Amino acid sequence: MPDVRRALVAVALPALLVGACASDGDDTGDPTPEPEQTADAAACEQPDDCPLRVVAGGADVLIGTAVQSDLLESEPAYAEMVAAEFNSVTPENALKWDAVHPEPDTWTFEDADAIVDFAAEHDVAVKGHNLVWAQELVDSTPDWVEEIDAPDELRSALEEHITTVMEHFDTVDRWDVVNEPLQTTGTELYDNHFHRVLGPGYVAEAFEMARSADPDAALYLNENIVEYSPGKRDAFVELVTDLVDDGVPIDGVGLQLHLVNGAPEAGVVSDLVETFTDLDLEVAITELDVPLRESDDLSSQAAVFDQVVEECVGAGCRDVTLWGFTDKHTWIDSFLGPGLEPLILDDDYAPKPAYDALWQVFAAQS
Ligand code: XIL
Repeated sequence: MPDVRRALVAVALPALLVGACASDGDDTGDPTPEPEQTADAAACEQPDDCPLRVVAGGADVLIGTAVQSDLLESEPAYAEMVAAEFNSVTPENALKWDAVHPEPDTWTFEDADAIVDFAAEHDVAVKGHNLVWAQELVDSTPDWVEEIDAPDELRSALEEHITTVMEHFDTVDRWDVVNEPLQTTGTELYDNHFHRVLGPGYVAEAFEMARSADPDAALYLNENIVEYSPGKRDAFVELVTDLVDDGVPIDGVGLQLHLVNGAPEAGVVSDLVETFTDLDLEVAITELDVPLRESDDLSSQAAVFDQVVEECVGAGCRDVTLWGFTDKHTWIDSFLGPGLEPLILDDDYAPKPAYDALWQVFAAQS
C-alpha cells in the first residue's frame, strides 16, 4: 500500500500524508500533498508504489469518484483520500436541479461550490451531473418544474436553469446534460414531464441550450442498464445516432454501470465504446459500482471491475468514474440495502482486491 493510504487507514492525519510517494515527490513542506503531481507513472510497478491517479494519469485516463460535499467537510480521511487517489470528481447530488434550484427564485450553489473549490485546490477535474433528470423511480426534477404545463414557460425554465448553472460553474468542462432519458427497463424515451409538454425534442433542446451556455464544455448523455439489456442498448445507440445525425451538439455518452447483476456479457462494453467512438463521440464510465451478490466474493467483484474497465479503456475510453470509493459511504446501502460493499476501499478505507484490479488495468495501459 502506498504511504498515502497506509497513513489514512491508520490515523487519517493530513500531516502524515506529506510523505506520500515521497521517493518520487519533492516535499515542499506544504501540508496538502499532491503526490500525483510529482510521481512518475513509469515508476509505478505495483499498487504499493503510487495511487490510482498517478497510474491512471500514465494511461491518460481520468479516474473519478462521486463525492458528497458534507463528507469532504466533516471527514478528513474521506477528503484526503479523494485528493490522493482521484483526478476527477462528480458531485453525487450537489449539482442536481432540486439541489441547486429548489424553487423558481432560489439558487443554492454552496454545496457544489465547496466541491468545485476542493477540486481546484487539489488539481482535480469536475464532471457536472446533471442538468436534466426526469424519470419515475428516482430523479431530481423539483415539483415546481413539474407544475409548469405551458410549453413556452417550461422551455424558458429549462433554459434559465441550464444557463444559470453552467455559467455559475464555468470551470466545469464536462456535463451530463440529460440523465437517463430512456425507460429504465424499456426501450422508449420516458414519458416524463419534459416529454409530455415539449415532446421528444426536449433532449435535443437541452443539448442546444447547454451548448449556448458554454460553447467549450463537453456535453454528455448519460444512461443506465444498457450493459445488460440488448433492447435498451439498441434504443440507446439509435437515440444517440439520431442526435448526431440531426446535428445536435452532443460530445459524449456516459455508461453508468451500476453493476447490480454482476459482469455484463464479455465484449458488450468494448462494442459500445467502439460504436460511439465511430460516431466521433467520447465514451465515459460514469457511475461504476459492483454490489456483492450472494454468489460473489471480493475477488469475483474485482474481476468485474477489471472486465468492464479493461474493455472500456482498451477500446479507447479515457474517463472512468466510480459512484463513490469507500463502502463506508455508498448509495447502494439505501438503494438495495446495507452490506453489499460495492466499492474499491472497505469501510476503513483499506484497499480491496477491486482496487488492485483497477490499478493493474491502468498500469497495463500506461
Ligand atoms: C443517487 C445518489 O447516489 C443518491 O445519494 C441519491 O439519493 C439518488 O441519486 N443514477 C444517477 C445518479 O444518475 O445521480 C444516482 O445518484 C444513482 C443512479
